[in-house]
Amino acid sequence: MFVQPELGETLSRIADLGTDGFYRGPVADAIVAEMQRDGGLITAADLQAYRVRRREALSGSYRGYTLYTMPPSSSGGVTMLETLNILETFDKLPPFGSAEAAHVLGDALQRAFIDRNDLLGDPDFVTVPVDRLTSKAYARTVRGTIARDRATPTPRLTTALDEGRQTTHASMVDAAGNAVAMTTTINNLYGSGVYVRGAGFFLNDEMDDFASQPGSPNMYGLVQGERDAIAPGKRPLSAMSPTIVLDPAGQLFLIVGGRGGSRIITSTVQVIIDAIDYRMSLSDAMAAPRLHHQGLPDSLRVEAGGFAPAVLDSLRTMGYAVATGGASATCTAVMRTDGGWVGVIDPRTHGGAVGY
Ligand code: DON
Repeated sequence: MFVQPELGETLSRIADLGTDGFYRGPVADAIVAEMQRDGGLITAADLQAYRVRRREALSGSYRGYTLYTMPPSSSGGVTMLETLNILETFDKLPPFGSAEAAHVLGDALQRAFIDRNDLLGDPDFVTVPVDRLTSKAYARTVRGTIARDRATPTPRLTTALDEGRQTTHASMVDAAGNAVAMTTTINNLYGSGVYVRGAGFFLNDEMDDFASQPGSPNMYGLVQGERDAIAPGKRPLSAMSPTIVLDPAGQLFLIVGGRGGSRIITSTVQVIIDAIDYRMSLSDAMAAPRLHHQGLPDSLRVEAGGFAPAVLDSLRTMGYAVATGGASATCTAVMRTDGGWVGVIDPRTHGGAVGY
């Protein structure tokens, strides 16, 4: 049994004092004391100097639907929009569950992740070509590199490490139709494992979202480049993908996001295309088998039992290194229905949907 009584006090302080309730005063003192106890690096001056950055949501479109999603320093929005733009160059996606559909989606994800891993980072520190990567013209160029019936190897091979887990995504809508898609993360399970005594929470291990050694895989197997290298005051490249989708009439359609490291991006994209292209109900879209490609390691990961053996054989023949497992994040979503809303939690995890 793990009880965090001090967390209530910390949250009350934040409610009363805003950021000063966390970055100054007793909570900050407790963090600094924890740092000193364990040889950590963060000082009171670091905490006082920290500023939240408010950035404009990234927007894009997909088959007449409008998406609002997370800008850098998350890679989620750019990578999802690039993927969806590539998919949109196909008038119609191949039938759900077919080898052709897995190929098209796998290659679109792979191409978007190759760009993600190489070109994205904190825009306060590096130039991020957001407009180019999310443009329809660029997607058409990338589409031209996707062969009809064969995989394209990702440059530079490497090995994946174990994946970790522990992030939370919430999708919300109120009676007036105001929507919030919110993801928060301390990265791995229990973050760094360092608990701030007296303040009631764990410190994160977000340093792993940087390319701590550009070219070497992080805990999600992501191989990222120089633009995501560590620097003082810099924010690491995230995969968080909180997204709000409007239908072609401009009405709120879907609120979605997830947890699961790099799989957040690929699973959120799949919930969106399952809803828009395959016209699935939200519960079907949340349960539908998923796949994952992140450029490197150069493999197409599929959920166990999710794809017919003949489909997997076809994918291998096309040249994919098909791997089973580690193919999905867990998402939460809310979708408009006739006369109301439906909320669904990913059946791969625990949790639930509630209405008030
Ligand atoms: O921001 C990111 O991309 C990671 N810190 C997310 C980690 C994560 O989703 C782990 N959870 N299951």
